[in-house]
Amino acid sequence: MPLTLALSPREEQQEFISTSPEETCHLAAQLAAALQPGDCLLLIGELGVGKTTFVQGLAQGLGVTERVRSPTFVLMHEYHGRVPLYHFDAYRIHKVDELREIGFEDIVRSQGITVIEWGEKTEELLPQGCWRIYIELLPEQRRRIRIERPQAPRT
Ligand SMILES: Nc1ncnc2c1ncn2[C@@H]1O[C@H](COP(=O)(O)OP(=O)(O)OP(=O)(O)O)[C@@H](O)[C@H]1O
Ligand SMILES: [Mg+2]
Repeated sequence: MPLTLALSPREEQQEFISTSPEETCHLAAQLAAALQPGDCLLLIGELGVGKTTFVQGLAQGLGVTERVRSPTFVLMHEYHGRVPLYHFDAYRIHKVDELREIGFEDIVRSQGITVIEWGEKTEELLPQGCWRIYIELLPEQRRRIRIERPQAPRT
């Protein structure tokens, strides 16, 4: 049964159990439909939990046809959907200056949509008002996915 996202503007967060990569993608594609240009999303969860899989779903939902791969070494990929999608992976950064140098602070405040794997490592460079997606491993390929909508307007 596909997961159904039913985030009403009043609801601050919603939690799902995904049982497969396809379900995780599907959920992310639904979230994409609720996003506005300029939105920023942090993906928070341990190695191999499904962050890149989630970005693949987001990209699909935004109409991106390019293949989405992890930007682990280059730090960022840009995809072309109904709005630009900027995909960062902060796993390998030692200092946030590495992100500053590639224009992170402007990109995250641009009219594209920015999604950051290991987003918690970039906290000091972030504007207010980001989405937070927490993904946790559960037994048997399942994942707990908590989607928290922004608690403040984007700055
Ligand atoms: N319910 C699920 N949701 C997402 N991925 C799942 C699920 N069940 C199994 N998987 C598998 O888990 C793996 C997740 O890999 P993915 O690269 O998306 O994780 P990641 O969090 O981006 O890892 P990294 O920390 O290395 O960036 C994939 O091989 C995927 O097929
Ligand atoms: Mg990844």
